[in-house]
Amino acid sequence: MIVVFGSLNADFFLNINHFPEPGETILTPKTVVKAGGKGGNQAAAAGKVGAVVKMVGAVGIDTISDVPLNALKMATVDVTPVVKSNNSTGMAMIMVDVTGENSIVVASGANLDLKAEHVPQNFYSKENVFVFQMETEKQETFKVINKAKLSGAKVVLNVAPANEVPINILKNVDYLILNEIEAKTVYQSEKSSDEIAVQLAKMIEGVCIITLGKQGVVFADKEKLYHQKALQIKPVDTTGAGDTFVGIFSAMIDRGFPLEKAVQYASVGASLACLKNGAQEGMPNLSQIEKMIENID
Ligand code: RIB
Repeated sequence: MIVVFGSLNADFFLNINHFPEPGETILTPKTVVKAGGKGGNQAAAAGKVGAVVKMVGAVGIDTISDVPLNALKMATVDVTPVVKSNNSTGMAMIMVDVTGENSIVVASGANLDLKAEHVPQNFYSKENVFVFQMETEKQETFKVINKAKLSGAKVVLNVAPANEVPINILKNVDYLILNEIEAKTVYQSEKSSDEIAVQLAKMIEGVCIITLGKQGVVFADKEKLYHQKALQIKPVDTTGAGDTFVGIFSAMIDRGFPLEKAVQYASVGASLACLKNGAQEGMPNLSQIEKMIENID
């Protein structure tokens, strides 16, 4: 079983021709609201490939909370552990340009009220995979990471958005997943992604995975450095691609897949997710990923 401890948002999408300069006003005909939040997206991606997923998050007592919660239910994710807060549900303003690149501002709201104590005790088990990101209060996330590790559960940490993480916390992470910017922030160096992956894997005595967009993925364990090529696609919207990677990777680890195969599935899944608008709508199921892998081979 997968336990996702993290953020839930309603995403307001604004399609634009170019990103506004400071002081510039641009127009777009409308906004569309979709389910998001890095935690919710990762839970949905894992649910869509068949994992049993529990979402531990916080939303407001408002109707906009239906947006992330209903999408998770559709992806077969159990949302009963989600708590209600007096703050409003998290909201993200997402600008997407004509190349599919995005720029995001998150109003955290209820996400900041998520506490370690909201995780039911019986979730802490060596049978489970815990998944974390950095959109909720850091100290609460760190408490759950430590407790999950102590219980023998596998710990996946996606340091998104980029943040510094103390070494004693990193040492309790089994799978550290980052993009290039996040890797440089965590390792505090401008070295190459290959080098950072190797050094971080040694440092945490686990696996470090760095996603490189079109360039694929570089990852390392204590012994070896690996590369995975990306599926070449023409992206419509890259929002949530990293989250899709994390969710599918965690689901495959939960299924007992070896590291290289779990990365391959996650990488193909993340590319497929970029073919539709919104963070969750393009997330593939297992057979869509497998069909694409067959085509590559
Ligand atoms: O990673 C994409 C997500 O970041 C969006 O869904 C948005 O809600 C922000 O959390």
